Amino acid sequence: MVEPREPSPLSDPGIVSDPYPVYADLSEREPVHWCEELGAWALLRHADCAAALTDSRLKAERMESVLGVKYPGRSLPPDSIYHRFTKNVMMYTDPPLHDVLKKSTLPAFTRAAHEHYSRIIESVASELVAAVPSGTTEIDAVPALAAELPVRAAVRAFGVPEEALEFVMPRVDTVMTYWSGPQEQPVELDRLLEVLDGLHAFAEELLRGGRGRVPPDTVIARLAESAQDSPDCTPQQTVHQLVLLLIALFAPTTPGSASSGMLSFASNPSQIERFLSDRECAGNAANEVVRYNASNQFTWRVASSAIDVGGVRIEEGQSVALFLGAANRDPRMFERPDAFELDRANSGKHLSFGAGLHSCLGKQIAGLELKWFFAALFARFPGLRLAGEPVWNSNLEFRSLRSLPVSLN
Ligand code: HEM
Repeated sequence: MVEPREPSPLSDPGIVSDPYPVYADLSEREPVHWCEELGAWALLRHADCAAALTDSRLKAERMESVLGVKYPGRSLPPDSIYHRFTKNVMMYTDPPLHDVLKKSTLPAFTRAAHEHYSRIIESVASELVAAVPSGTTEIDAVPALAAELPVRAAVRAFGVPEEALEFVMPRVDTVMTYWSGPQEQPVELDRLLEVLDGLHAFAEELLRGGRGRVPPDTVIARLAESAQDSPDCTPQQTVHQLVLLLIALFAPTTPGSASSGMLSFASNPSQIERFLSDRECAGNAANEVVRYNASNQFTWRVASSAIDVGGVRIEEGQSVALFLGAANRDPRMFERPDAFELDRANSGKHLSFGAGLHSCLGKQIAGLELKWFFAALFARFPGLRLAGEPVWNSNLEFRSLRSLPVSLN
């Protein structure tokens, strides 16, 4: 008789608010851990995750396997929007296609473009903080600040027309339930396909100028311009990259980092003082914030041949979940990993934005949002403190706060 199997501790809904003790325990005992609920090998250590991110035998083209895990027994025809999208975006493809797709977007992510976005994001952040009515003593910092920051940046720096927000944002929220494991159930597959279709039709029209005005010099304007003379990338592939960017833009990652950062500071007031009194500490804040809490706790790869990780054999075709959030708290890489410390010399070694070929395309922009946000926040509210229990979502994969009561005295 087969013994009933213990569920993986990674699938316990109770860990989302604080997964770190479970990570620390697994990282010691079983750093390469089979998680049945994910259908994947979970890698918990920094060295293993960092190596996996640059191992060409671990493929980013994984969405067929992920489909099987999320909707057991379901498959889709090759011309389904699911496959057309996931097989034509940089995030889920491997070289040489990955490199062609990523390169086609780079005119929107040059150094000069980032300098321009930095100026815009600086004013977005200061206007956001200035909009808190004077005399306010307590707020829920998630809806009031963290959730608003990327939306305003999406409009002003990325060029998403304001009137399109009510179309795009709920659809991205629905798509994000797909990246929900192992605690939450994703949206129904048919609804997911419908939403992906809708986002593609929207992106296509936006690039043609039919969904509102895209201001010049924004990410979308630069993308639309460069697409016209991008010989290696088809117009449809440009649409797919734009849909990916829209998803990344309105995903809970940036608000998740802004809100978890406020929580880290509010619970460690000495770090607000360090931020205000030491320029180097202020400069390291975005790195330490995303190290301390990765808003994308894990990402996926599929083994294209059998490999050995820490003495465990991963078979060809098996999925691997790289626990970036666990790697960021690995004591083998970070001293006192559970302390939030702006003086930390190696915060930048975090893996919250991935690494290697698939390293996050939006990491500089996300970093700018965090940098200017905390500068504006602490210039006005140096006495920010916790005023109640923070509430986390129930999604370990994209872990973020739902509510964060803070006092502003
Ligand atoms: C704090 C905010 C963010 C976090 C934590 C984050 C995290 C990540 C991670 C972990 C990856 C690598 C995934 C992998 O290797 O499988 C990634 C890739 C990516 N991110 Fe972000 N991201 C953030 C913000 C953004 C924003 C604002 C954009 C919009 C431009 C963006 C666009 C992308 C794209 C296009 C990729 C795929 C790059 C490639 O495959 O070459 N991200 N992100």
